[in-house]
This record gives sequence, structure tokens and C-alpha cells, in this order.
Amino acid sequence: MVIPETLFTDREVLILELRDLLFRSWAVVGHASALTSPGDRLLCDVATRSWVVVRQAEGRLAAFRNRCLHAGYPIVETGDAPSSTLLICRHHDWRYDLSGRLIHAPHLPPTGSTSPPCLKPYAVEERDGLVYLAPAASEGDVPAAKPPRPDALPEAPHWLAGSVAAPVHTVTLAENWKRLASRMAELLRAWLGPAGGALRVHPYGPLGWFATDSQATALVVRLAPRDVGQTDISLLALRSPSEPVSACFDAMPSLRAPQLAEALGALPPGGVEDDFYARYFALLPISNFSSHF
Ligand code: FES
Repeated sequence: MVIPETLFTDREVLILELRDLLFRSWAVVGHASALTSPGDRLLCDVATRSWVVVRQAEGRLAAFRNRCLHAGYPIVETGDAPSSTLLICRHHDWRYDLSGRLIHAPHLPPTGSTSPPCLKPYAVEERDGLVYLAPAASEGDVPAAKPPRPDALPEAPHWLAGSVAAPVHTVTLAENWKRLASRMAELLRAWLGPAGGALRVHPYGPLGWFATDSQATALVVRLAPRDVGQTDISLLALRSPSEPVSACFDAMPSLRAPQLAEALGALPPGGVEDDFYARYFALLPISNFSSHF
């Protein structure tokens, strides 16, 4: 299959992908073990945007755009405490409770309204220890199907719900997301070196993969496009609580973007591109792009 170069360089294509694919998919954004107590929260990037997922007082999860209602700055920033009973924007001290309701806004004149402004909630789900976010642009865009169950995949480990997770590891690469997606299995094996030699990799949503190296370790891999030529790749490494730590699990914290770029550059020509693009064009018919090619 000959893929037009504009598919990787045209910002209008990314906008279409966001609208028709990325905003309409569930993304695995973390592990429930990072969100055990009320106030626990995690930051993630999905579909070019920043999100915050919080554990509410009654135990449910809530997800919001990480964007303050005042002037749009991030409410939570990398390095902030992983838990707090309030979401406090450091820029001008607007404060939100865990339901996203604005409870404090210095210098904001009273509006007389009985319903204070609220951060818009987005769909978030927890299954088998994994946390899924649907970054739908509108309610009508929320995927009808619930998040796929990993145990429906071949070779999914039986211990997934009780798994132990390493912190999500993310690196950013100067590459279009489709070039990474189209060769993900080869790329992971090359990147992880000997530790990844036995990986079996399955697609898991349009921008996700689920990989196992044995019955002791699993990887949930997710791509998050930042721009046409810049992509985050996140790895969530899981292991059985009863098995020793494997080399694959152990390798996560030392993985860096230069190694990934090198692994990508060293891949032999060819690969599994047709397989990826068959799925891609099934979700995004080529007629969507007619004005771009
Ligand atoms: S941008 Fe958050 S308080 Fe001003």
C-alpha cells in the first residue's frame, strides 16, 4: 500500500484523526493502584490534551480537562502532590472540589447564581486494574462500546486484576504517530532489546497495544499524538504479584527517547504496515481525506 506523505505532515489530517478517531476511543491512562484513596489523582495526555483523573470521596473516578476555568492554565502540573482533597490552580488560586465544582475564586464578583461553574466531567472507567478515559469532544462522541476487556485478548494473564504496576513511563519522539503505530510490535522488541525478545503484541484500541512476554509480565502501550510530527509513547508495565520481577518489567525506567529513535531507524524496510493501515482506513475511510491527497 502506498501511503501519501501528506498523511504524516498535514495538520488538517491530524484534526480529522482527532475528531473521528482519537476523541472517540477509550485510552488506558494508568493503573488503579495509583488511585486508591479519595483525592488521589493522575495526570495524562490524550488526544493532544492534558487530563486529570481523581478518586472522589465516595470512591468513584472522575476525569476533567486539566484546564482552569479562569484563564485556561493547567490546574495540576507535573511534580504536584499525587493526592489532595482539592484541585487548586496555582496561577490565581481558583479551587475546585473533587466533583469539579468551583468552590473558591478570589476577586470573582458574585454572579447570584445558585449553581457554581463546574469542570466538565468526561467518561472514565476502571476495569481489571486499568483506568480508561474517553476524551469525547461531546457527549454524542462517547464510544458506545465499553472499554475492551484485556482478558478477551489471547494470552491475557489471569492475574491482571491484582497486578502490580510500575509508574507509567512516557517518552516523546519527533515522529508522526502512525509511523510508530504501524510497526509497534517490531519497535517494542527492538527497543527493549533482549528483554523484549519474547514479546507477543496485540492491538488494543486504535492507539493502544497489549503485550506479554510470559505469564509474568504485561505491557500496556499507548500513543498520544502531540502534533503531526511529535508523539508520546507511554508504557504501563504490569506484573504478577506472585512472580519475580522480569527483565522486561525491570527495563521500563531506563528506556529513553534516543534509544527508541535509534530502534525505529534501525528497523528493516517493510514490516506490518499494511495490517495497521487496513485498520486505520476501516476507521477513517480515505474519502475523509479526499481534499488532502
Ligand atoms: S488560570 Fe487558574 S486561577 Fe487563573
